[in-house]
Amino acid sequence: MIGVGDMVLLEPLNEDTFINNLKKRFDHSEIYTYIGSVVISLNPYRSLPIYSPEKVEEYRNRNFYELSPHIFALSDEAYRSLRDQDKDQCILITGESGAGKTEASKLVMSYVAAVCGKGAEVNQVKEQLLQSNPVLEAFGNAKTVRNDNSSRFGKYMDIEFDFKGDPLGGVISNYLLEKSRVVKQPRGERNFHIFYQILSGGSEDLLCKLKLERDFSRYNYLGLDSARVNGVDDAANFRTVRNAMQIVGFMDHETQSVFEVVAAVLKLGNIEFKPESRVNGLDESKIKDKNELKEICELTGIDQSVLERAFSFRTVEAKQEKVSTTLNVAQAQTKVRKKVMGVLDIYGFEIFEENSFEQFIINYCNEKLQQIFIELTLKEEQEEYIREGIEWTHIEYFNNAIICDLIENNQTGILAMLDEECLRPGTVTDDTFLEKLNQICATHQHFESRMSKCSRFLNDTSLPHCCFRIQHYAGKVMYQVEGFVDKNNDLLYRDLSQAMWKANHSLIKDLFPEGNPAKINLKRPPTAGSQFKASVATLMKNLQTKNPNYIRCIKPNDKKAAHIFNDALVCHQVRYLGLLENVRVRRAGYAFRQPYEPCLERYKMLCKQTWPHWRGPARDGVKVLFNDLEIPEEEYSFGRSKIFIRNPRTLFKLEDLRKQRLEDLATLIQKIYRGWKCRTHFLLMKKSQIVIASWYRRYAQQKKYQKIKSSAIVVQSYIRGWKARKLLRELKHQKRCNKAVTTIAAYWHGTQVRREYRKFFRANAGKKISEFILQKIIQKYFLEMKTKMPSLSPVDKNWPARPYLFLDSTHNELKRIFHLWRCKKYRDQFTDQQKLVYEEKLEASELFKDKKALYPASVGQPFQGAYLEISKNPKYKKLKDAVDEKIIIAEVVNKINRANGKATSRIFLLTNSNVLLADQKSGNIKSEVPLGDVTKVSMSSQNDGFFAVHLKEGSGAAGKGDFLFSSDHLIEMATKLYRTTLSQTKQKLNIEISDEFLVQFRQDKVCVKFIQGNQRNGNVPTCKRKNNRLLEVAVP
Ligand SMILES: Nc1ncnc2c1ncn2[C@@H]1O[C@H](COP(=O)(O)OP(=O)(O)OP(=O)(O)O)[C@@H](O)[C@H]1O
Ligand SMILES: [Mg+2]
Repeated sequence: MIGVGDMVLLEPLNEDTFINNLKKRFDHSEIYTYIGSVVISLNPYRSLPIYSPEKVEEYRNRNFYELSPHIFALSDEAYRSLRDQDKDQCILITGESGAGKTEASKLVMSYVAAVCGKGAEVNQVKEQLLQSNPVLEAFGNAKTVRNDNSSRFGKYMDIEFDFKGDPLGGVISNYLLEKSRVVKQPRGERNFHIFYQILSGGSEDLLCKLKLERDFSRYNYLGLDSARVNGVDDAANFRTVRNAMQIVGFMDHETQSVFEVVAAVLKLGNIEFKPESRVNGLDESKIKDKNELKEICELTGIDQSVLERAFSFRTVEAKQEKVSTTLNVAQAQTKVRKKVMGVLDIYGFEIFEENSFEQFIINYCNEKLQQIFIELTLKEEQEEYIREGIEWTHIEYFNNAIICDLIENNQTGILAMLDEECLRPGTVTDDTFLEKLNQICATHQHFESRMSKCSRFLNDTSLPHCCFRIQHYAGKVMYQVEGFVDKNNDLLYRDLSQAMWKANHSLIKDLFPEGNPAKINLKRPPTAGSQFKASVATLMKNLQTKNPNYIRCIKPNDKKAAHIFNDALVCHQVRYLGLLENVRVRRAGYAFRQPYEPCLERYKMLCKQTWPHWRGPARDGVKVLFNDLEIPEEEYSFGRSKIFIRNPRTLFKLEDLRKQRLEDLATLIQKIYRGWKCRTHFLLMKKSQIVIASWYRRYAQQKKYQKIKSSAIVVQSYIRGWKARKLLRELKHQKRCNKAVTTIAAYWHGTQVRREYRKFFRANAGKKISEFILQKIIQKYFLEMKTKMPSLSPVDKNWPARPYLFLDSTHNELKRIFHLWRCKKYRDQFTDQQKLVYEEKLEASELFKDKKALYPASVGQPFQGAYLEISKNPKYKKLKDAVDEKIIIAEVVNKINRANGKATSRIFLLTNSNVLLADQKSGNIKSEVPLGDVTKVSMSSQNDGFFAVHLKEGSGAAGKGDFLFSSDHLIEMATKLYRTTLSQTKQKLNIEISDEFLVQFRQDKVCVKFIQGNQRNGNVPTCKRKNNRLLEVAVP
């Protein structure tokens, strides 16, 4: 901590150490210092990094003395006691012009906005509250020699909160705008910012609409020597203001009409008048250049002649004096009790070279504020100690009530006299007013005038004759009396307000309601002074109902420069602000007091005796409580109705303990609640468990019962079964016994009978028995045969063995019958076609089986007959055409030459009636033999295909003699030839099978002889004509 953060702790305490401490802290950028709960703020004239959101978080919900002094700590303290203790608050920011009041008020508002409630609606309200500043500053602030952004009006803003501390809206009251600045500014000062902002920042389009030019020098009202201010960007500020107006709730057309009025005011300054004598000899003012007037009329919608006429009498500026804005009407109107935090930023004490009515009023207001500070901190505090019977040594301080009385006393006060002058009939001037003052106030300690009866100032040359001087609490101020009467009257001539009311411009119409001819009010309006006095009185009353928080702003130098600390200037401010006295009272006094009841109510939970109820006087309760907490006795005193706590730290200790205890209590409540919750839950669970258990038990018992029942049934059935079996056994035994008895009886009877009849039967018995046995055997044989029958396949050779020799023939016969039967069965399945084939095969078998060695090989080959497909081969077309009968055989055979035994290929055709031989190549028929002429076919018994076809002697075909052929299908050809001949001629063809036979060649009989093993030419037999009588055929 640099220096001492709280002046109350400063040791030793005197003016030097006080100033030094401030200086030391200021040099280290610590601009805030406390006197108890009052914040002293030094204007740093540079931006410091101590207002960031992190700082806001740092100070949020912290004890006042916990962190280094800051305006945020005060704001937090005020907001929390508003929110938690339901105490309306006001923040009084005082100090000279340029000391940083407006900045401080903005910091307070931004802090409160940052920490209070959240949500879209709340944010909108906050935005509106914050954005009201740029708008108000544009229209009410101006550059003065003391401050580049000096507030030229007083502002009191009530921020309203709901019960939870969320902002609902705000009401802003403005006090006495310095109107004269519009028409005249002292040297080095400017008019209100808005004029410069419009001209610098307005778009070409806007300026054109407002009929304005960007050049400041075009307007008489704009102080030219300081039109531009260093570090102020009027154009950017204009954009901020427009934006802020929009957020605050101005509609576009409303903003536009406000700008139109501003433009009209600027233009009004350019109107010049010239004196003109009228016929009646009186002087009249005339407007020099009517062009400007025309434009004003176009802007405001006033008839030019009407305005011109109004101007011809007198020119007076007009402005609304007090504006009340409800930011959020809907919320401001709710019935809920609102908590209020007021922020007062009123113009600072001012001493100019020339001080007029405005400075007088401003300084009066500051006197009142100092008064309320004294009332609440110095006087009231000391009086309270006495009232409460606390031991106390009085501390001297300067009470400025006397100055307030000089100004506001109803009979002899300066304001009262000024009003009196204004209302008095007859000629009234500023001088007559001064004269009156000189008479009435001459003896007042704080009033000084050259002309007063008091001889003290007769020779005071620093005091001109037309001035009076007041010794304000903050210093002496000399006021020029000129203009006091006019400004106090602040009359707006009726014809002028009526002219304005006729404007075709809703805003101007609203600004001059008194111009409405229907509402002519003949009563004089209250004077500016009395109005201000009344509104200051209301303000003071309002402030007195709230818990005050002070920010006392101090200006470190007159140069608006950073890092400069002017000791003398600061000392002066410290003195007139009475800060040292403030420290003294604070030190001697008690930081905190509270009636016993609320104190006990608040802290009773810290002691067992007082918690939860204390029966008895609250004072005793607090005593018990403090004793219990072992708070040192010097730290507190008991008043008549209040407890006084000396040190804020004790209070914070109490608060911390309370917070801790509340947490414990919360834990206790939580514990009990949780216990209750768990118990209820447990009981519910238990109940449920019983239900479930009973159901389960029932189910289990049912199961068990069923098991026992089924076991009982099993046991029962076993026992019954056992009993039944036992009974059955007994019965069976009995039955067997019976049977045995019967059998024995039967045998016995039989024996007896046989014994009796033996002699009659013995002779036939053997035969009968053997017949019987035989019959039995045969019966058995047939029954067994039934099961042993072989398959139905005709080729199946299996046949069961014969059981007894005497059944041999029967057995064979049975086999034969069965075979025939199954053959028949087999045959029955044949188609006609198959039957034919089998008949042929049967024929072949009868003819050749066991006679010709070639036969077995032919059994498996199917008989096809037409091996050569004559009809399909175009080569044999002629042959086919020549044969019109059905062809039975068409096959290529080797015809053996009779002379040399050589083989030639011939087509062998057998039809129903002929045998035909044709050339294999050409298909020409070589020979044709009717079947009737074929007498015999001869062949060997060997495995060869050689055969001879014998022809009837003398027939036509037999000219050359019998034919010799060899074929691979000998068996088939011979069979078919045999069958065809039989069916055609009804005669059996003779087939001779012999290894030596004779054939007829013309006249010769030649012997064909087969020799085995001399085979050379595959299957084709080799024939050799040995001589006229012998043809040798070699066969395999
Ligand atoms: N806390 C601060 N940090 C930085 N600059 C500051 C601070 N307070 C004040 N200033 C500077 O001082 C200037 C004057 O401050 P401000 O306008 O608040 O004075 P004021 O007390 O309201 O004066 P007036 O009575 O004339 O309205 C500001 O424009 C700003 O530049
Ligand atoms: Mg200000």
